[in-house]
Formats: sequence, structure tokens, C-alpha cells
Amino acid sequence: MIELLTGDALFSDSITFYGELSRTSIIIFACLSFFGVAVLVMTLISLISFIITGAPFIATSKSLTRKIVALAKIQPGERVYDLGCGDGRFLIEANKIYGAKAVGIDISPLVCGLAKLTVWIKRANVVIRCADFETYDFLDADVIFFYLVPDQMPILRKKFKGLKKGCRILSRRFEIDGYEPLQRIQIKKRFGYEPVFIYQI
Ligand SMILES: C[S@@+](CC[C@H](N)C(=O)[O-])C[C@H]1O[C@@H](n2cnc3c(N)ncnc32)[C@H](O)[C@@H]1O
Repeated sequence: MIELLTGDALFSDSITFYGELSRTSIIIFACLSFFGVAVLVMTLISLISFIITGAPFIATSKSLTRKIVALAKIQPGERVYDLGCGDGRFLIEANKIYGAKAVGIDISPLVCGLAKLTVWIKRANVVIRCADFETYDFLDADVIFFYLVPDQMPILRKKFKGLKKGCRILSRRFEIDGYEPLQRIQIKKRFGYEPVFIYQI
């Protein structure tokens, strides 16, 4: 039997169709706007921080962060530092998944604010200190992670004197001159590989 849609029935079907369509488009538009605003805010924070402190904030991607944290073989209760912690993602993973006592140090007040907000949103137990790691005492570290620039490697080398025996150090991308890494690892990314150097005191 063929049912003919006429008049009101046809009209109400069109309304339902366009209602559904507009709801879906609103959701897609809202998601895209949220993503766009997030990217814009991150870019602005990075730019302003760079102008104020001369130190660029470039976050390690979440998947790479997960892989690097796993390489650190963190035991519950170990004290883990990220020197130049950005939004604190390495430490949030270290605390929430591996039970680390995590401390993040960042020189940029804006980036520290972002890190504190992220830690609060993720309900992680991570301490964020707004400081220059060059003058910060982190000699109680069991694990140290950083993603910095090559010019900072000689400063770090000096800071590592006096670290606890067994302390693991993970550097994303750059080697520390004068220290022989325990492992040089190439982590697979979407495009190519990323070197991570692991040292042990
Ligand atoms: C490339 S970002 C890495 C962020 C984070 N560790 C990550 O991998 O996602 C480097 C960060 O180090 C911080 N930084 C640079 N020099 C610093 C210093 N002397 N003391 C503390 N933080 C510093 C910058 O503000 C920036 O947020």
C-alpha cells in the first residue's frame, strides 16, 4: 500500500529533518569552535611566554607523552620532575597512571597558570612551581624529564651534580654533552621518529 504524504504531514517531516540537521550542525560547530579556541589560547600563551621569558612553550603530543612516561619505568611514590613542565601533561600521566609524586617547574607565569588549571581539571596530585629550574633544588629527584633547547643542556649538566644514585633522566630530542646515555630511543610518531635519551646517575 502506498502512503501519500500531503499537506501537514509533509511539512512536519521537513521540520523534523531540518531540526535534526540543525542540531547536528550546532554540535559540530560547537566542537570546532571549542577546538579552535583551545588552539588559539595555546598559541597565544606560547607566544606571550616566548616574548616575556624567551623560552618557547611547545607541548609534547599526548601520545608521545604517554610513550615517554612509560619509558621512565616510574614506581609508585617516586619523585618525578619536569623541568619546563608546560601544561603539566607528563606529570599528570606520571601521577595518575604510575602514582608518582610529581613536581613541575616552569619559568613562565602564564604557562604555570595553564598547568595549574590542567592539573585541577584532571584531578591530579601534581605540584606546579613557577620558577627557573636553574636556581631550583631538585636533588631529591628519582626521575627527571625535560624538553628544552640545546643551549640549556650545559646548564642542566651542572645542575645534575649531586643527584641521587639511580636517578633516571629523560631528554626529549637533545643529548647532554659529557653524559653517555644508557639508551638512545627513537619513538615512532605520526610523521617520522622522535629521539629520547635516557641517562642514569
Ligand atoms: C618545549 S616546552 C616543553 C613543555 C613540556 N615539558 C612538554 O613536553 O609538553 C619548554 C617549557 O620549558 C619552560 N622553560 C624554559 N626555560 C625554563 C627555565 N629556565 N626554567 C623553567 N622553565 C623553563 C618554557 O616556559 C616551556 O613551557
